[in-house]
Amino acid sequence: MIIVVSVGGSVLARTLDAEKFRGYASALKEIAKNNTLFVVTGGGKAARDYIGVARELGADEATCDLIGIELTRLNARLLIAALGDAAYCEPPLDYKEAKRASLSIRIIVMGGVAPGQTTDAVSAVLAEYIGADLLINATSIDGVYTSDPKKNRDAKKLDKLTPKQLIEIILKTEMVAGANAPVDLLAAKVIERSNIKTIVLSGENPRNILDAVNGRYTGTVIEK
Ligand code: UTP
Repeated sequence: MIIVVSVGGSVLARTLDAEKFRGYASALKEIAKNNTLFVVTGGGKAARDYIGVARELGADEATCDLIGIELTRLNARLLIAALGDAAYCEPPLDYKEAKRASLSIRIIVMGGVAPGQTTDAVSAVLAEYIGADLLINATSIDGVYTSDPKKNRDAKKLDKLTPKQLIEIILKTEMVAGANAPVDLLAAKVIERSNIKTIVLSGENPRNILDAVNGRYTGTVIEK
């Protein structure tokens, strides 16, 4: 299978910890034995801290995004360091470069690409562009809920839903200030237009990703 794994910065690099990167590297190497693997890393707390300071200094939002992208690429570099020879040596800066790099038959690890989006969208477009069979979004929540579980006690976790239902949930969530959508809207739109099979799961333990690849997913499956 061709697989894209999006690892939220909030799980991979909440605090900078070599063990977390080692644990991820070991699970990803296992997956890459039988699959073509692309990984997109998020920015996490460091990205939010840098963006916060840039904003305080009067930087415009696009400049803040560009700073965020640099941080996602730094996390990509740390994961590449943890993967050693199993990874392509540099984070590709765009989709075409990622596709070319995959000819190396190594794990491709990249961060953000362009302002105005998050790495959720990058992983969805990458999945579309390289014809992935599966997109896994490893995040800080354990799946997609009917509404934001941090704001609503009645929120229920869904095992399965269609891309259309995902978009409806995101639109509802985004109307509440400060709420966190499980996947960003642009990513959900791309998942819908190309009908990319997507699994949203908790990335706390990277073994969850390995299990999902082997058909034992614990999160939410999005498919038509
Ligand atoms: P993340 O994808 O990590 O954003 O990118 P996030 O969803 O806020 O983070 P986590 O992983 O859930 O903690 C970090 C920031 O980098 C910029 C955005 O500003 C984003 O908030 N970014 C990232 C872009 O502008 N474009 C990209 O393609 C990727």
